[in-house]
Amino acid sequence: NPVTNGSFEWSAPSNIALVKYWGKKANQIPANPSISFTLSNCKTITKLGFEKKESADGFSFDLLFEGQPKESFRPKIEKFFERVVAYLPFLKDYHFTIDTQNTFPHSSGIASSASGMAALAMNLMSVERLLNPQITDAYFYQKASFLARLGSGSACRSVKGSVVVWGSHAEIEGSSDLFGVPFTGQVHDIFKDYQDTILLVDKGEKQVSSTLGHDLMHNHPYAERRFAQAHDNLSALKAALVEGNLDAFIKITESEALTLHAMMMTSQPYFILMKPNTLEIINAIWKFRQETSVPVCFTLDAGANVHILYPENVSVKVLDFIKNELLGYCQNSQYICDKIGAGSELA
Ligand code: PMV
Repeated sequence: NPVTNGSFEWSAPSNIALVKYWGKKANQIPANPSISFTLSNCKTITKLGFEKKESADGFSFDLLFEGQPKESFRPKIEKFFERVVAYLPFLKDYHFTIDTQNTFPHSSGIASSASGMAALAMNLMSVERLLNPQITDAYFYQKASFLARLGSGSACRSVKGSVVVWGSHAEIEGSSDLFGVPFTGQVHDIFKDYQDTILLVDKGEKQVSSTLGHDLMHNHPYAERRFAQAHDNLSALKAALVEGNLDAFIKITESEALTLHAMMMTSQPYFILMKPNTLEIINAIWKFRQETSVPVCFTLDAGANVHILYPENVSVKVLDFIKNELLGYCQNSQYICDKIGAGSELA
């Protein structure tokens, strides 16, 4: 093979699920389908250098985070390489340098696994395309999402924008458990430039890793009902996105967030991942929405931070509300303004 060395650089954004993925089968197959908004500002930028080795024994790579060696990432990357080597046979032929940075502050409580694994998958696909120039764009992106899924499930929704479905669903054309696909329906204009302001309530280490969290859905008393509900909610959300039905959007999105946390509160062992200030914020949003009719709602990840979602045309009002009434509930008044985005990009 004539390719001896080179490098690529890709950025990939984070994403925020509206219908949540929580629970998985073997090989990172989701127990239920999920749908997310791809974000724009919160992203990982990864440069991948590669150099042909003398012999193809084992994996060989150096890891840098913000320019400094970062050995603590090694087990995760090693495990990822083991999972994907069957699909990327060149992995053992090269020495890699993986140089990564995030646009959001580390230990902000914002998970970088989705953006990080997606950025790495894009880079690896660029190497594959260099070795196999005949592969099509469709194959390139689909396989990138497939690989990202094997790194971190939700990462498969960070390859493309702006609304992505992962998991097989009867009413979503082309949907698959193996990779994320852009939502093919005509999304209503009200969701163009949809805003996500992330309030940093608790920046501490995650109490429950998502790996453990997904495992808690095995033998969970409400698992089957929950998986069925996710299908129903995805059907309803699909209609809301197309019709621009913000009332329905809000009801489904908030209920999904609370259900995710309810699953954790009712598993064995059980966890409460919200903090008192998470509840203060939720109550303040409900009060503000009732008093002003501004269509703002919240969603949550598997942690205490709150994502506030709203259409661009009410940004001024919502940002005023956030600054005046919610920042006191955030750690060091910290928040991040983000919005719906277009997916990964080659630098
Ligand atoms: O991709 P994972 O295994 O870190 O799981 C992410 C799960 C949630 O963020 C809680 C929900 C989701 O669909 O993104």
